[in-house]
Parts: sequence; C-alpha cells; structure tokens
Amino acid sequence: MVYDPERYRNASQAHLQADKIPPCFSFELGWADMPMRQAILGLMTELGRQTMNLRVMPTARLLYVRSLREGDGIVGWGGVDAEFNPRYPEVFSLFVRPDYRTYTLGLLIELARYTYLLDRGIERVYARMDRASNYALLQYRVTHGLFQPIERASLDPAYVSLCHGCELYGGDCADQAYFLVDVRAFVRHGENRIGRVDVSEMPRIFELRPELIRRNPRLPVLPGAGPPDGGVGRTAFKPHWL
Ligand SMILES: CC(C)(COP(=O)(O)OP(=O)(O)OC[C@H]1O[C@@H](n2cnc3c(N)ncnc32)[C@H](O)[C@@H]1OP(=O)(O)O)[C@@H](O)C(=O)NCCC(=O)NCCS
Repeated sequence: MVYDPERYRNASQAHLQADKIPPCFSFELGWADMPMRQAILGLMTELGRQTMNLRVMPTARLLYVRSLREGDGIVGWGGVDAEFNPRYPEVFSLFVRPDYRTYTLGLLIELARYTYLLDRGIERVYARMDRASNYALLQYRVTHGLFQPIERASLDPAYVSLCHGCELYGGDCADQAYFLVDVRAFVRHGENRIGRVDVSEMPRIFELRPELIRRNPRLPVLPGAGPPDGGVGRTAFKPHWL
C-alpha cells in the first residue's frame, strides 16, 4: 500500500464505508517496540500528523494494529502516557488507515488503551486536539458523556505549553481543544460493542466480527442520549461547545 498523505488528511469522513467488506479480518494488536515506534513516527510525519507526545515523552506507549493480510503492515495506532506527568495522564495520536476505517479497529485501539489505564486505577485521562480535526467524532463522544470539554484556563500551564512543541501548533492545529475522558465509561462502551480486550498479554490476535460492524453512518445524536449502544443514527444537533 502506497501512502498518499493528501488522501489521508482529507479522509475523516471515510467511515461511511461500512457496507464494504473489510480488506482483512485478522489483526495483531500490540505495544510498539523501538523500531516500530520509529517506523510509525515516520508515517505520522508523512501523514502530516503531530509527533509531539512521542518526541517529548519518553514514557509514552504506543499501541499498533497490524493487518495480517500480506503486504499491508501497520494499519492503525494510538498512544497513551500515564507517567510523564502523573497529574495529566494523556491519550494521543489515534489513527486508522482510511481503507480500514469503520470496522471497529479504532475502537479496539481505544478500548485497549483505556483498559490499560483502568487496570492501573486511572479513571480520568486528558486528550488534546485541534477543535476542527474530527468534528463528528468529538460531537459523538461529548454528547454521550465519554469526553468532557475542559477550559484551557483551568489546566496547568506546563501541561498546556507542551502544545508549543508540536509541529502543527498555530498551523494545522489553529485552535486547541482539551478534553477529560471518562475511562470507565469508555471501557464499558467499548466492551458492550466488541467485548473485553485483555492487555496483560501482548501482542495478541484480534478477529473482526462482521455482525458488530456498524452498518449505518454514525450520525450526530441528541443531547442526553446516554451511552452509545451500537444503534443507528439519530437527529442532528450542534452542541454548545463547538
Ligand atoms: C477516528 C478513527 C481512528 C476512527 O477509526 P475507525 O476504525 O473508523 O473507528 P471505529 O469503526 O472503531 O469506531 C469507533 C467509535 O468511534 C466513533 N467514531 C469513529 N468515527 C466517527 C465519526 N466520523 N463520527 C462519529 N463517531 C465516530 C464511534 O464512537 C465508534 O463507535 P460506534 O461504533 O459505537 O459508533 C479514524 O476515523 C481516523 O483515523 N481518523 C483520522 C484521525 C482522527 O480523527 N483521529 C482522532 C482525533 S485526533
């Protein structure tokens, strides 16, 4: 697969491909070792994505998903750090290659990293991103109570200032948004959708279950709709925080 950064950058709506058959059903999920971490850093740079967390936080851990279809390699990743600043544990850099989106791999990565945190007794974790980066995803998560928007002024300036070391700061990331993630609620949601992910033994093989793939576009939901349940889309609405 040849990477096309332009296509990837503009593909945030590529999730509307749920009717297509996934390119592959079998995946390896694991923690990236140093060579793989360097390889993923290279992909992030090629894709124009931020690499700040991995460059600045030596304690950061990176999950990878590798397609077991020959020649495909790494098709997704997501980072987590609980040690660099224990007051501000953070998740970062979630990415799934567009042709593999909508088949629950993003959720697999998320569930794995939130399970890892919960296993360590961490129930709240921070996430930062460009406010405009994936509007639909943020809207979905805030509305369901998984993500809570946080005012920048309420955060430790040292935590906020890490953004200044990011290559996208003030450019592609024009307006930084900060969120507090309810780790327990996310794990509950993820397990309801795809079952438990045991992160104590890695790497592990993960098989996609076609019956769990959402067949409808994830439409915005009504406020107070409760946790996501894998159901169909509901009425559009614009939350006050965007
Ligand atoms: C975000 C991303 C990783 C999702 O990957 P994916 O494999 O398509 O996601 P999944 O199929 O596992 O969906 C996981 C959950 O994410 C949510 N979701 C994913 N894409 C969404 C979208 N465009 N709109 C609304 N919700 C979305 C849903 O909550 C979904 O759960 P559900 O099945 O109960 O609805 C992928 O679209 C991506 O790499 N996008 C570009 C990078 C990005 O936006 N990263 C996150 C912000 S930095």
